[in-house]
Amino acid sequence: TKISIFCPATIANLSCGFDVLGMALEGIGDRMNVSLTQEKGVQITRITGGDLPMEAEKNVAGVAALALLDAAHYQGGVAIEIEKNILPGSGIGSSAASAAGAVWAINKLLGDPFTPLQLVGFASLGEALASGSPHADNVAPALYGGITLIRSYDPLDIAKVHCPPLLHAALLHPQIELKTSDSRSILKRTISLEKGIRQWGNVGGLITGLFTEDYGLISRSLEDRIIEPLRSLLIPGFDDLRQAALKAGALGFGISGSGPSVFALTTGPEVALNTEKSLINCYQSLGIPFKTYTSAI
Ligand code: HSE
Repeated sequence: TKISIFCPATIANLSCGFDVLGMALEGIGDRMNVSLTQEKGVQITRITGGDLPMEAEKNVAGVAALALLDAAHYQGGVAIEIEKNILPGSGIGSSAASAAGAVWAINKLLGDPFTPLQLVGFASLGEALASGSPHADNVAPALYGGITLIRSYDPLDIAKVHCPPLLHAALLHPQIELKTSDSRSILKRTISLEKGIRQWGNVGGLITGLFTEDYGLISRSLEDRIIEPLRSLLIPGFDDLRQAALKAGALGFGISGSGPSVFALTTGPEVALNTEKSLINCYQSLGIPFKTYTSAI
């Protein structure tokens, strides 16, 4: 009754799909050990790699786990050990990895009483604790794998999107502090019809491009005229990074989730590595500490 799992990092939004699109990264993620206990409740017994609350009610994994145990009317409890590799506050779904990992593992240990859709619901409660909003565009791909679309939040309706096998990502994480709650609070509440038309055209284009493996269509659709113009102002060197990524052959470039990480999608691992190199070259002169990654999807 102990399970050891990998909890993937995720890129939310994918430029045009604010709060509805997300993708899981194959090579970047946390590890988690979860076991059932006699004692009722959730105990976070160890966290390495991050300075995070151990108290279950204040921890994203703890909150998600408590919601699941409550819904299952489980009489015992769970013990959770978290090994963080995804830096909290990086914009690649650190809190989502913990929340999704906890509910996925507990559901397995209890014999799969809940559907993946229900697990997304529990994990979103962890996200609500972390960022003040129960968005599911990181927890959904973390739980389903690959790329997901949240067609509706109420009722929750999630569709898995085909992921072309060549698709890779290169990421750069500028180590500046940018809280999801802050980068959400700067957003406007309303958009013009003109911007809406452009954005849903891109969302449809991206989904179609992914299903038909049409990389040209994917590339043209990786555009965001609503959120990115506001949030990119908070990310030093954003425009130069975009130029660098596109010059290296990336399909598109944007903000990963609410930032500060940025991502580029590429066809294949070589272009991803080239893109990573270009991003590094571009950022070295800025004097801001950063980390980079590449990953399959
Ligand atoms: N869709 C969310 C946002 C993701 O952009 O605020 C946060 O990781």
